[in-house]
Amino acid sequence: MRKRNNREDSDRDLKQRPGSGAAGPAAGREGGMGKPFRRLGLLGKMKKMMLWLLVVYVFIPFIVKLCPSIQAKLVFLNFVRMPYFIDLKRPLDLGLNHTRNLYLEPEAGLKIGVWHTTPALMWRAAEGKRGDWYDSTFSSSHPVILYLHGNAGTRGGDHRVQLYKVLSSFGYHVVTFDYRGWGDSDGSPSEGGMTSDSLFVYDWLKRRVDDKTPLYIWGHSLGTGVATNLVRELCDKGSPPDALILESPFTNIREEARSHPFSMVYRYLPGFDWFFLDAITANNIRFASDENVNHISCPVLILHAEDDPVVPFQLGKKLYSEASQSQSLSGHKVQFVPFSSALAYKHKFIYRSPELPNILRYLPAHQHQTPPGPMDPMRREVTTTPGRKQS
Ligand SMILES: *[C@@H]1O[C@H](CO)[C@@H](O)[C@H](O)[C@H]1NC(C)=O
Repeated sequence: MRKRNNREDSDRDLKQRPGSGAAGPAAGREGGMGKPFRRLGLLGKMKKMMLWLLVVYVFIPFIVKLCPSIQAKLVFLNFVRMPYFIDLKRPLDLGLNHTRNLYLEPEAGLKIGVWHTTPALMWRAAEGKRGDWYDSTFSSSHPVILYLHGNAGTRGGDHRVQLYKVLSSFGYHVVTFDYRGWGDSDGSPSEGGMTSDSLFVYDWLKRRVDDKTPLYIWGHSLGTGVATNLVRELCDKGSPPDALILESPFTNIREEARSHPFSMVYRYLPGFDWFFLDAITANNIRFASDENVNHISCPVLILHAEDDPVVPFQLGKKLYSEASQSQSLSGHKVQFVPFSSALAYKHKFIYRSPELPNILRYLPAHQHQTPPGPMDPMRREVTTTPGRKQS
């Protein structure tokens, strides 16, 4: 009821013509949702529409241009905490009974929330265990995946939790965290902060994980941009991870923002780049994976669903083709695995693929044990869509 009144109040404010006094407050309150529109007549309707067009195509673009931080908020969406009522300190509530919650401090006074999920087969042993037990599990031969999540939500987001469960059931450790500004982590978001937090967690892992145990980096969506930033830095330092997995990646943030559903309304607006994309760049947000692949030297696996509505399939394919031509990646396996639209995995559901264990089986056991030779038949191969037959 209150909503409807507000709506009609604003209708009255818009009219402000003496002749429209007949549509007084009482009459307005009795009318249904459609009534105020009808009373406005054709001219009124057009005025209302013009006003909307003015707001959408003039006010909003200028406001964004004047306050580029709005664009940063839309890129990070860290204020969206879906699901709202979960306690990140209690991963058990989400059925993660072999997961430990801990906090690391990448910078003095800045704590970030981390989850370590052990391989599922350790779940009985994990009951009631503390941090030192969890740390000791890293010295087994089970491979470790550092998972870098995308924008919006927290490390407890449902599609993320489902992936941790799937990966841990395959025998992987999964370590994930909320970047500064996300979830229960301190600070505010920035591309540089996301990258340095991931480097900090990677180094923390590297000190605990056995030398012979493979360590992989898995990024999803916006997290793929963080992942290529991180792996580029690791390769620059001469210590690449054993593989980089990019789930639903894009080439760079400008191309992604141009094709994001949010941009639909504006895509054909003259000056779209100037209004919206330059505002992103003005925040120092680049996520230039297409550039980073020219500085990366470790096996790369790209997973992308053809029906991804958030990061278009074409962007993942484009990144793959750029990675295929990269000098620094020559001699390393670069693989692209598409998932047919018929499977409906969209942006978040690749974890549902029953083919995932087969796909991941080809990840190198450890880079220094099995260097990929130039004769490697899997090198730079586009695998046909797994599971196409099941649809
Ligand atoms: C704990 O998790 C494991 C692996 O996910 C599952 O198989 C098991 O049933 C869970 N145990 C309980 C008591 O919920």
